[in-house]
Amino acid sequence: MRTQLLFLLISLLVLNSESLNCYENNPRGRPSDLRVFHISSPCSPFKKKPNTVSWESTLLQDKARLQYLSSLAVKSSVPIASGRAIVQSPTYIVRANIGTPAQPMLVALDTSNDAAWVPCSGCVGCASSVLFDPSKSNSSRTLPCEAPQCKQAPNPTCTVSKSCGFNMTYGGSAITASLTQDTLTLASDVIPNYTFGCINQATGTSLPAQGLMGLGRGPLSLISQTQNLYMSTFSYCLPNSKSSNFSGSLRLGPKFQPLRIKTTPLLKNPRRSSLYYVNLVGIRVGNKIVDIPTSALAFDPATGAGTIFDSGTVFTRLVEPAYLAVRDEFRRRVKNANATSLGGFDTCYSGSVVFPPVTFMFAGMNVTIPPDNLLIHSSSGNTSCLAMAAAPNNVNSVLNVIASMQQQNHRVLIDVPNSRLGISRETCT
Ligand SMILES: *[C@@H]1O[C@H](CO)[C@@H](O)[C@H](O)[C@H]1NC(C)=O
Ligand SMILES: *[C@@H]1O[C@H](CO)[C@@H](O)[C@H](O)[C@H]1NC(C)=O
Ligand SMILES: *[C@@H]1O[C@H](CO)[C@@H](O)[C@H](O)[C@H]1NC(C)=O
Ligand SMILES: *[C@@H]1O[C@H](CO)[C@@H](O)[C@H](O)[C@H]1NC(C)=O
Ligand SMILES: *[C@@H]1O[C@H](CO)[C@@H](O)[C@H](O)[C@H]1NC(C)=O
Ligand SMILES: *[C@@H]1O[C@H](CO)[C@@H](O)[C@H](O)[C@H]1NC(C)=O
Ligand SMILES: *[C@@H]1O[C@H](CO)[C@@H](O)[C@H](O)[C@H]1NC(C)=O
Repeated sequence: MRTQLLFLLISLLVLNSESLNCYENNPRGRPSDLRVFHISSPCSPFKKKPNTVSWESTLLQDKARLQYLSSLAVKSSVPIASGRAIVQSPTYIVRANIGTPAQPMLVALDTSNDAAWVPCSGCVGCASSVLFDPSKSNSSRTLPCEAPQCKQAPNPTCTVSKSCGFNMTYGGSAITASLTQDTLTLASDVIPNYTFGCINQATGTSLPAQGLMGLGRGPLSLISQTQNLYMSTFSYCLPNSKSSNFSGSLRLGPKFQPLRIKTTPLLKNPRRSSLYYVNLVGIRVGNKIVDIPTSALAFDPATGAGTIFDSGTVFTRLVEPAYLAVRDEFRRRVKNANATSLGGFDTCYSGSVVFPPVTFMFAGMNVTIPPDNLLIHSSSGNTSCLAMAAAPNNVNSVLNVIASMQQQNHRVLIDVPNSRLGISRETCT
């Protein structure tokens, strides 16, 4: 009995110290695992005071994010920068070491972006005090204009010194960067000659402070650059933003991926070739399959319509007819209570009410969303809201986005060689 208690205490202590270790990657000794922190985790230097993050501001960020995602369809369009500083939410961060000797950076994960960039020393307008200094790395080199990667960069230019520069917008911000190659070390893996942008100039306040790591499908993304090492296979488990002492993981490569996992075909849409599309065929509320017009969910390579998984949007967005149908059925199923609105959400309830489960029906895979991922609870009072919204009307996007809140505490597997996306429940620790 006492030994059992002692063992329990020890394992609790071990668990605890593991969950609070902000500096080590390789959780549970897996060499290609990176810890993933929520931006408001105690391990994050970017955390804001809890009360400064409102639902309203998160929804606004999501709106900017959706605008960005839909702008991917038309390469020339620039996301609208409003007068207000719209922060595109880099919600999850990982540790990456760049250069020789290694300079540690905390970069934001973005599954819908291809580019990678870090603020570099001498940058004009970068907010971060942590800057990558290529002159202190003996493995760094600036790519020349004729390098093949230069053509893959967004808006490439040839500078006076014949090196490759590029610029791009991200949320309400814009960057100008030099295309650079250096050694990237992720957990225990060394990636020589990794191509990324070294930011020389930045405007706006939407940039993740220490850089971005794009995990999209395009040619310059980490996934494409490490095809020999990771075989375009990775999985991630995003920790719940409320359990701030937990970290999730980003597991790179086919090794140690879950064997028993539900999967659905992974689709590629030529209109938005960086994004991970799946085929959402229906949505069930309780045991009722909601009546949604087929066109609202249909995958269409011609228009870019369909459903994607994204790590950078917080709340799931459905095109309006789909959202309205799901919401109405949800409201019908909540007995003896009338829905109210709060902070941009339109289906909220006070007090103790019983909520119906919601199931996303993908081709060959049904995923029932647990209550923790379905409802957002107001920090003052006892109101809970359905944590989904209609895609903004002004965005001509026809894109459904399965967002990070609905993915939390699940392992999401992206397996490009086998064209499948997998999901299994997992407590991210
Ligand atoms: C680069 O620096 C590392 C240590 O910081 C050193 O071990 C290595 O020999 C250096 N390489 C070159 C080519 O100077
Ligand atoms: C960004 O690139 C485009 C196309 O090369 C160029 O016209 C524009 O001036 C550049 N903007 C900045 C801020 O460098
Ligand atoms: C990295 O790039 C340098 C310079 O082009 C080259 O000499 C070296 O062989 C490359 N290393 C690898 C592992 O590709
Ligand atoms: C997280 O850890 C800190 C100590 O680092 C502790 O003060 C805090 O209570 C913990 N929070 C939770 C939710 O466990
Ligand atoms: C909900 O609203 C209807 C119509 O306004 C009202 O008759 C009913 O009493 C309300 N129900 C509750 C539980 O508040
Ligand atoms: C919590 O819900 C109960 C029952 O609906 C209600 O009477 C009470 O006022 C609510 N408390 C707050 C702080 O909103
Ligand atoms: C998903 O649920 C629907 C409706 O309940 C059912 O008809 C279908 O067979 C399920 N699909 C899978 C893959 O379990």
